[in-house]
Amino acid sequence: MNPKYAAITAVAGWVPDHKLTNKDLEKLVDTSDEWITTRTGIKERRILKDETKGTSVLAINAVNALLDKANINGEDVDLIICATSTPDMGFISTANLVGEAIGTKAMSFDVSAACSGFIYALEMGSNFIKSGNYKKVVIIGADKMSSVIDYKDRNSCILFGDGAAAVLLEPHNELGVVDALMFSDGSGKELLNVKRGSAFPYSEEQVMGEHHYFHQDGKSVFKHAVTNMSAAAAQIMQQNNLSADDVAYLVPHQANLRIIDATAKRMGVGNDKVCINIEKYGNTTGATIPLCLWDFEKQFKKGDNIILAAFGGGFTWGSVYLKWAYDAK
Ligand SMILES: CC(C)(COP(=O)(O)OP(=O)(O)OC[C@H]1O[C@@H](n2cnc3c(N)ncnc32)[C@H](O)[C@@H]1OP(=O)(O)O)[C@@H](O)C(=O)NCCC(=O)NCCS
Repeated sequence: MNPKYAAITAVAGWVPDHKLTNKDLEKLVDTSDEWITTRTGIKERRILKDETKGTSVLAINAVNALLDKANINGEDVDLIICATSTPDMGFISTANLVGEAIGTKAMSFDVSAACSGFIYALEMGSNFIKSGNYKKVVIIGADKMSSVIDYKDRNSCILFGDGAAAVLLEPHNELGVVDALMFSDGSGKELLNVKRGSAFPYSEEQVMGEHHYFHQDGKSVFKHAVTNMSAAAAQIMQQNNLSADDVAYLVPHQANLRIIDATAKRMGVGNDKVCINIEKYGNTTGATIPLCLWDFEKQFKKGDNIILAAFGGGFTWGSVYLKWAYDAK
């Protein structure tokens, strides 16, 4: 019989040592610690300083920590899915590089869904487990956002940081991913993007015009994020008959504290149940939700109802309802 659920059975994260603080940013652009803190909730972010090292370095460190924690070898892993928007290269997935580093020849591929990448990948991994054909699936969220950010643009450089985290998914008959709601709407493409790729080949004009950097219309994105992320979180509660009291924790994408607050309010969930670590990492795109699971793991209890919610470029958004499967040691 196929397993009923896919459960997260371990989580681990990895961030570079270098901290880029709001005070450091005051020296780069016309901004202030006070503005950044009150408008976003961010105090500092981590940066992978070595320009020759890409997202795979973040991901490999996170996955090695995960394997250690779960006490398994790379060759035990039978699927790797890496959610990233900043792959090392355009051709060769970051998941492939992770597979090589940990010593598995299992299927591996990347998911490109910006800040919703991790929940998309989790939903996919969960269905692979439920097929009965996969027993140990590694889901990674990893991004080196500093590789696409213009540190002259105060509208965006204050928001992002680098990081990675990974979870192990295994079959379970009582606990795990119960439900997921995933959405996308490509009409948001001009409001949030990084124009690199086959339609935007490298040219002098592209680089001189600085079109290859991350671009967003912050105000519009903010409105879409609040509306869609909170609606997805509220909808998944409703369709699973969950009241605010039933929810133990909300683990939201960490883009802006005000977006997180609006989502929690719409769900009716108190601040004490909201997992927040935006102050120390900023927005790490695909990595925010697993980094948050890693930071808050010790608070979660076996059987806790946890809601994940995310919104990102595309647009992409969604929510996941899961029952936590273990008490951390
Ligand atoms: C980017 C964001 C923090 C800006 O906050 P905001 O409250 O919307 O601020 P606004 O864009 O309205 O700008 C207000 C003023 O602050 C200024 N400002 C913008 N960035 C600033 C900064 N870093 N420091 C100081 N002032 C800044 C603006 O120029 C503007 O000045 P003006 O009124 O003279 O034109 C916010 O819109 C946001 O978080 N958007 C969503 C971003 C996001 O989530 N992206 C990823 C998607 S997952």
